[in-house]
Amino acid sequence: MDTRERRLPGFFVGGDPGIGLNGCNGAARLLCMFTATTLSGSKPEQYAELAAQARALLSGERDRIANAANLSALVYHALPALNWVGFYFHDGNELVVGPFQGLPACVRIPLHKGVCGAAASTRQTQRVADVDAFPGHIACDSASRSEVVVPLVRDGELIGVFDIDSPELDRFDADDQHGLETLAGIFVESLA
Ligand code: SME
Repeated sequence: MDTRERRLPGFFVGGDPGIGLNGCNGAARLLCMFTATTLSGSKPEQYAELAAQARALLSGERDRIANAANLSALVYHALPALNWVGFYFHDGNELVVGPFQGLPACVRIPLHKGVCGAAASTRQTQRVADVDAFPGHIACDSASRSEVVVPLVRDGELIGVFDIDSPELDRFDADDQHGLETLAGIFVESLA
């Protein structure tokens, strides 16, 4: 995928001056608007822009569900060729689906199963070019062909995983992995 020239849809987080980016309350008039813009430049530059948008979107909010929901929506709509973006959270025993964009998904994933389980148990990002070649891949959406799963760890504790699926084979390269790991880090930092 040549993304150097590609201009990806992105988001501008807007509002009245003086209203926090998550300030959908406390204002005289309710304004909480996310307007599509376009990411530009090389793929690393586009991810840097998306990371800045994510930081702004999550800024000042520590609620895990709210931030997971908004980050899923941001990424799903900003990056091309994705069919599922979302979170699984560790409940102390297994992974339980959290906020996501895409088709309904498997609710619980044991730590020893699937790409998500591999990311969670090894605490290493799993970048899978062909999910059909990954032993134990769990097909929640039959359209998925490639996948990245980033473990979410804070203070040595497994929080969950950030899972991104594509209907294209080999959709994700090292730049995508790095960019998605940065976004996952922004999510983890937002909870502190
Ligand atoms: N494919 C994942 C399961 C989650 S769905 O992709 C949303 C896996 O193998 O762990």
